[in-house]
Amino acid sequence: MAGEITLRVDGHDHRLPADPRTTLLDALRERLGNPSPKKGCDHGQCGACTVLADGRRVLSCLTLAVAAEGTEITTANGLAENGELHPVQRAFIEHDAFQCGYCTPGQVCSAVGVLDELGRGWPSHATSDVSTSPTPSRAEIAERMSGNLCRCGAYPGIVAAIEEAAG
Ligand code: FES
Ligand code: FES
Repeated sequence: MAGEITLRVDGHDHRLPADPRTTLLDALRERLGNPSPKKGCDHGQCGACTVLADGRRVLSCLTLAVAAEGTEITTANGLAENGELHPVQRAFIEHDAFQCGYCTPGQVCSAVGVLDELGRGWPSHATSDVSTSPTPSRAEIAERMSGNLCRCGAYPGIVAAIEEAAG
C-alpha cells in the first residue's frame, strides 16, 4: 500500500506509515514496542541506540525509518538464536560488563559490529599498520567502541568481554 514502509526487525516484517520525520529509533521503540535500543542523547553522541543494519552498526537516532526499509535490522533482542544468547551477550554477563544496563543493548550491538569489522580486516584510527589485518587488541576495541558511552564506568568489563568474544 502507498504511504507505508516495511521494516524487517529481528527477523520479522512490520508495516508502518511512511512518515519521513520518524527516526528508526522512534519507530522501533514507539511503533513496534521494541525497548531494546535506548534513547540516551537522541543526538548521535552516546551510542545507546545502536542497532545493526545488514550487520553494520548504525545509530538509530540518526537514521530515518524510511531509509532503513530494505535492510535487515537487528537489535540486541534479536541476537539470540534458538534460545541461546549470542557469544557477545554471554561474555558481557561473564565479565560483569554492565551496571545500569541502559547502555548495554547498544554496547552489545556495537561489539558485534566491531567483531565483524575486525573479521573483515577493516582498519581503525588505532591500527598502526593498515597494510595488515588489525587484531582485536584492547586498543583496537577501545577505539572502535569509543562511540558507546557508559556513565557508570563498566568499560574494563566491556573491553574484557569483547576480547573474550573475539576468541
Ligand atoms: S540516542 Fe542515539 S547516539 Fe545517543
Ligand atoms: S552500564 Fe549503562 S551506563 Fe554503564
